[in-house]
Amino acid sequence: MTRVLLTGATGYIGSHTAVELVNAGYEVVGVDNFSNSNPKVLEGIEKITGKPIDFMEVDCRDFDAFAKVFEKFPDIEAVIHFAASKAVGESVQKPLMYYDNNIRGLINLTKLMVEKGKGASIVFSSSCTVYGQPTPENLPITEQAPIQPATSPYGRTKQMCEDILTDCVKAYGNLSVTALRYFNPIGAHPSAFIGELPNGVPQNLVPYITQTAAGIRECLTVFGDDYNTPDGSCIRDYIYVVDLAKAHVKAIDRMLSPNDGSRERFEIFNLGTGRGLSVLELVHAFEKATGVKLNYRIGPRREGDTEQVWANPAKANKVLGWSADTPVEEILASAWRWQQTL
Ligand code: UFG
Repeated sequence: MTRVLLTGATGYIGSHTAVELVNAGYEVVGVDNFSNSNPKVLEGIEKITGKPIDFMEVDCRDFDAFAKVFEKFPDIEAVIHFAASKAVGESVQKPLMYYDNNIRGLINLTKLMVEKGKGASIVFSSSCTVYGQPTPENLPITEQAPIQPATSPYGRTKQMCEDILTDCVKAYGNLSVTALRYFNPIGAHPSAFIGELPNGVPQNLVPYITQTAAGIRECLTVFGDDYNTPDGSCIRDYIYVVDLAKAHVKAIDRMLSPNDGSRERFEIFNLGTGRGLSVLELVHAFEKATGVKLNYRIGPRREGDTEQVWANPAKANKVLGWSADTPVEEILASAWRWQQTL
C-alpha cells in the first residue's frame, strides 16, 4: 500500500481528502495541531471509511516533532500540505502569525521531504486568491493568468509558498510539486459525519447561510449589490468539497505514476467548476434545495472583496481526468444536513 501524509488532516479539506484517499486504497497518516479543528474529526473519518487512519498531533512549525513523523513512517511517498491559517481578515490583524505558520510549516515540510533522498512529492494547497481581481479578458481564469499583488497577508503567504516551491524544484532534483489552486470549497460529506467547523462567527458565506437558517445568526448580510455583475452581488466559483477532495486523489495518482514525459516537476491546476454564481443566486439555490426561507438583507461591500472570479478548469479536466459536477442544490443540501448535526 502507498502511504500518503496529510498535514492539516483534521481540517475541512484535509478530512474530506483523507476519506477519499482511504476509499481509493491509499494508506493515510495524518498530522494536525488542532488549531482550527478537533480530534472528533478522526472519529468522523473512521465512521465513513470503516477504519482509523494513523495520526500524530504535530505542529508543522516544530521541526523536531515533525521529523518524528518521518521516523515513525519512513514509507511516506507523498505529502498533501493543507496545514495553514486561512482567514483573510485575521491575517491582516496578525500577519506575523500567518507568515510564521504558513511559511515555516512549508519550509519544514520541504526540508524533510528533500532530505528523504528518494522521490519527494508534495501537493500544495494553494488558492485562486493568487490571481487577485482578474481583468475581464482573463475570465474564466486559467493557470496562465497573471499573478497579481495579493490583497491580504494570507494571500501573500500562498504566493510566497508557491515561489518557495518553484525555487526548490529547480534546486532539488528529487522534488516534485503540484500546486492546487482552490476556488471556493463548500458543502459537507453526504454522510454528515464530517464538514466545515467554523470558529466563532463564520466569515465565509455558506456557514453563515446555514447558521442563519438554523437560527444561530439572525440575518445574513449580502455584502454589496452594486457590483458590475448581472444582479449586483459578487460572483465566485463554489466547488463541492468532496469533488475537491477527489482532485487530490487524482493529483497523487498522477505524481506517483511513472512519468511518460508529459509531467513537469512543478505543475499547477485550477480546481473549480467553471461556473460562476452570485451571492444572491447561491442564497436562492439554498432556499430551493432546503425549503428553508433565508433571512437576508443587502449591506455595504466588504473591504477587499474581489468582484468576480471563476475558474477555467480545462487543464485539470484534461490532465487529471477530473471534473467537479455535483449540482449546487445537492451541495447546499449537504451543508444544511451537516449544520443540523452540529
Ligand atoms: N459574503 C456575503 N456575506 C457573508 C459572507 C460572504 O455576502 O456573510 C460574500 C462575500 O462578499 C463574497 C462571497 O460571499 O462575495 C464569498 O465570500 P467567502 O468569504 O465565503 O469567500 P471569499 O471568496 O471571500 O474567500 C475565499 C476563501 C479564502 C480565499 C478566497 C480566494 O475564504 O481563503 O476565497 O478568493 F483566499
